[in-house]
Amino acid sequence: MKVDVILGLQWGDEGKGKIVDYLSNQYDIVARFQGGPNAGHTIIIDGKKSVLHIMPSGIFRDHIINVIGNGVVIDPSILIREIRSLEDQGIDVKNKLLISKKAHLILPTHKWIDAATELSKGKFKIGSTLKGIGPSYMDKTGRNGLRVGDIELPSFKEKYETLKQKHLHILQSLPKVDQFNFEELEQSWFENIEKLSTYAFVDTDYYINAQLKAGKRVLAEGAQGTMLDIDHGTYPYVTSSNTITAGVSTGLGVAPSMIGEVIGITKAYTTRVGSGPFPTELFDADGDQLQKTGHEFGATTGRPRRCGWLDIPALKYAIMINGVTKLALTKLDVLSSFEEIKVATTYHYEGKDHQEIPFDLDAFPIVPVYKTFPGWNRDISKANSIQALPSLAKSYLSSLIEALQTPIAFVSVGPGRDELIVNK
Ligand code: GDP
Ligand code: IMO
Ligand code: MG
Repeated sequence: MKVDVILGLQWGDEGKGKIVDYLSNQYDIVARFQGGPNAGHTIIIDGKKSVLHIMPSGIFRDHIINVIGNGVVIDPSILIREIRSLEDQGIDVKNKLLISKKAHLILPTHKWIDAATELSKGKFKIGSTLKGIGPSYMDKTGRNGLRVGDIELPSFKEKYETLKQKHLHILQSLPKVDQFNFEELEQSWFENIEKLSTYAFVDTDYYINAQLKAGKRVLAEGAQGTMLDIDHGTYPYVTSSNTITAGVSTGLGVAPSMIGEVIGITKAYTTRVGSGPFPTELFDADGDQLQKTGHEFGATTGRPRRCGWLDIPALKYAIMINGVTKLALTKLDVLSSFEEIKVATTYHYEGKDHQEIPFDLDAFPIVPVYKTFPGWNRDISKANSIQALPSLAKSYLSSLIEALQTPIAFVSVGPGRDELIVNK
């Protein structure tokens, strides 16, 4: 068997949690391969909303094993809080969760450095979720990091202390962060490390490869989105991991030849939370309407998301980089209240039209060229087939398929688990 992949094609929050939860019924294993508690994946089952940060979105299905892969960075305090909340709902996390021994740990000092670094950047701040993501990946690539497997070694405390001292030294050269209660955070971090030790720490690379060999179906769940990828996103306004299909290989330990279907998720418009370039961003009534109708607030930080029209050049790029085989289009229902819907088909910069996005979107002031579609102006949230959609919505979908040269396999028309059209 091969590993199928679900990931975001935009700047995150495309609805990955919802689609993974829906599709996980068809899999045996769901695995996170990168990112950490910066992610916020919303799942709504029978009207009850849950937001997962580190836990894979297969946890609500009884038969599924959920793997936190080596490419993920884990804050034990956040993961334990998440586990407790799931266990309170009667979910048997202990028998359904495997944590890679090679996944890196986020220390309290990583969060402290994250906050101080953002402060030092002033108006160039990234708009980080301040969960310690950047500093922990820096320690990983700098070969200083602490990993989950280290918890079980006698040298754990000593390794922790060495890294903490290094961090305290770095913090001396950064602006002072007010209201950071380090002692309290450190104490609860160690308590939660103890609690985490009662869950399964596994060589997940061997585990996943053995399961694939045995015919099990594995789904890799991306976090963030392609435009936040450390290599291919809108650098430096990105996260610190590879959010793209290639990240599945490094983040789970599966060979590139073992990748199967790649399902790329995009909203029917675009959002971004945090700083950085966003060519189709709206600052007018349409932007407000998208924000309000789409309830666009970050699932992790609660910050309002910036909103704009769909961006075809950016999506084409994301489809190319990820090798997307099928698309899932979410939040189509949010467009139902618009008289007119726009889609950016081309980027205009340096006096010419371009289909390609430049390496630095800030260095090339881009004017998006829009195509306008008439809105269907009708509630579509009860539609359960493509045929049931208004003809104007169907022609909007056909234009996207043609522009993106990729089939749309799923159309989401509401936040609930079953508000999804499967396009057979
Ligand atoms: P993720 O990070 O990609 O999992 O996405 P988030 O959970 O951060 O944000 C997606 C938001 O959109 C959540 O509040 C979902 O409940 C909601 N959502 C997902 N799909 C749809 C949809 O088709 N329509 C509407 N109206 N809301 C949706
Ligand atoms: P999900 O998985 C949307 C953004 C932050 C910031 C930048 C860097 O829910 O789609 P970081 O905390 O990684 O240092 O932040 O990336 N960001 C996200 N935006 N969805 C996410 O995850 C995000 N994770 C990080 O807002 O701009
Ligand atoms: Mg999210």
